[in-house]
Amino acid sequence: MTHPSIVILTGAGISAESGLGTFRDEGGLWAQHRIEDVATPEGFARNPTLVVDFYNARRAQAHEAVPNAGHAALARLQAEHKGEVLLVTQNVDSLHEKAGGSDVVHMHGELASALCSNCGHRWTAPLHMEVGEACPTCAQPTARPDIVWFGEIPYHMERIEAALAQADIFAAIGTSGNVYPAAGFVQMARYVGARTVEMNLDPSQTVDLFEDTRPGKASETVPQWVDDVLNG
Ligand code: APR
Repeated sequence: MTHPSIVILTGAGISAESGLGTFRDEGGLWAQHRIEDVATPEGFARNPTLVVDFYNARRAQAHEAVPNAGHAALARLQAEHKGEVLLVTQNVDSLHEKAGGSDVVHMHGELASALCSNCGHRWTAPLHMEVGEACPTCAQPTARPDIVWFGEIPYHMERIEAALAQADIFAAIGTSGNVYPAAGFVQMARYVGARTVEMNLDPSQTVDLFEDTRPGKASETVPQWVDDVLNG
């Protein structure tokens, strides 16, 4: 009996109970800041200080944050499941890694990484980035947060799509299903006959596409789901 291959997609909701704000909940990040000002290349070109300060604040908060039982359960699944597990996240925090997660695929980049917009070099971001920092490789003053902004291409899409094409189980956790291509992963999983499950506090925009939905807090629903998969 082969063991099912699993693709997991997480969003801001899995880090909510670790104190990191989500984007579209009441009072979320997109209620506090305009996306076009802090999460687009145009916004960065217009006012790099505003953007660097926005990510410095989020990096400092994420640095202090502690993973919750949802992150820990996914790390346990990766460690104990005998089949393939690909953990894809839209989140830019490192809570999956802090919980023991491995090979985490950050499709929207990560706060812990800096990127040179001149030569493409990546390095570990300092906790506090300055505007116009020099790239350690090409020495140009072209360092930027290694975050995929609106209008840019998400990272690792070939690897993600290859895993989805082989998936037996697809689970979406803590994501509102508003942003593509991530919100389309459930369709790709259904297309190859994978079982699909959504674990979210509120029904997502794509909830009707999931055959199984487990409403509630990730710190409760995800450990239960992992138990069900491991004991399946
Ligand atoms: N447990 C489970 N789900 C939760 C919890 C919780 N404790 N708290 C909130 N949620 C759910 C909400 O119901 C919501 O559907 O998490 C979801 C968060 O949705 P968004 O704020 O839209 O975050 P996300 O889906 O990750 O956003 C996707 O949009 O702005 C871009 O790049 C950004 O990666 C982000 C992308």
